[in-house]
Amino acid sequence: MSITDCIRMEQVCYSVGGRKILQDFDFCLERGVNRTILGVSGAGKTTILKLLLGLLEPDSGRVCIGDVCITGQPESRFMEQRKRIAIVFQGGALFDSMTVGENVGYRLFEAGELAENEIERIVLEKLSFVGVEQAVNLYPAELSGGMKKRVAIARALAADPDYIFFDEPTTGLDPIGVYNICKLMQQLQEEGKTTLMVTHDLATAFATSERFTFLHQARMVFDGTEEEIRASQIPEVREFLAPTEQVLFVDMTNRNGRE
Ligand SMILES: Nc1ncnc2c1ncn2[C@@H]1O[C@H](COP(=O)(O)OP(=O)(O)OP(=O)(O)O)[C@@H](O)[C@H]1O
Ligand SMILES: [Mg+2]
Repeated sequence: MSITDCIRMEQVCYSVGGRKILQDFDFCLERGVNRTILGVSGAGKTTILKLLLGLLEPDSGRVCIGDVCITGQPESRFMEQRKRIAIVFQGGALFDSMTVGENVGYRLFEAGELAENEIERIVLEKLSFVGVEQAVNLYPAELSGGMKKRVAIARALAADPDYIFFDEPTTGLDPIGVYNICKLMQQLQEEGKTTLMVTHDLATAFATSERFTFLHQARMVFDGTEEEIRASQIPEVREFLAPTEQVLFVDMTNRNGRE
């Protein structure tokens, strides 16, 4: 693997209000390897995404996008590398005062590099990809939760990134909404995008990722494949996976009971 084809954290430490969120954290997202970061609420998952994007600065250690180290650099020095990454924020983070179309085209309008009709074409193409082109003139308040997530994905896609970060993309969605998000992520992967998701949703994680990182008490305690995480004997990992196994067990028992 060439270092131009990954996003890395090296020995990153990060604290908030005296509390260690990350301690000597090493992480590597290789281009083409779709990954999920798992961990309980408050473990620091969103913080990792913000550090990788350069939205937060580590207390020590460094973050590199390809062969450019972004830590300690002004944003203007790593704008080109930063453009290779887009994020779908937890909750969508759409601008309420803008229409769906304006939200999706926002970064392109801001960049000022493309003609208006070209931006409109891209906006419709991305909205059509996520299946909500009919909502182009609506405002976020007029959309369902699932539609908002799709618009947020369309917005992330507008600048044609190589890497897309998804922060809890399925939270609050019904099973059909969850299925649609999984399908979209798989389609993006088939088109050559690399996805990094943080979530508690194991079903979505297993449907969309090939590598799993488990965060516990500021450290990475596991990194491996689905087979490896399912077989892991690390107590925290087992505890995290256990409720799913119990639910499956109960479902099967009920089904057998009815038969
Ligand atoms: N701006 C802030 N001020 C104070 N504490 C913060 C701030 N941002 C994050 N934290 C704390 O840092 C820790 C990690 O937060 P983070 O949002 O990364 O967790 P998370 O794993 O994404 O949680 P969740 O699954 O609930 O989204 C939490 O304990 C949180 O309370
Ligand atoms: Mg979070």
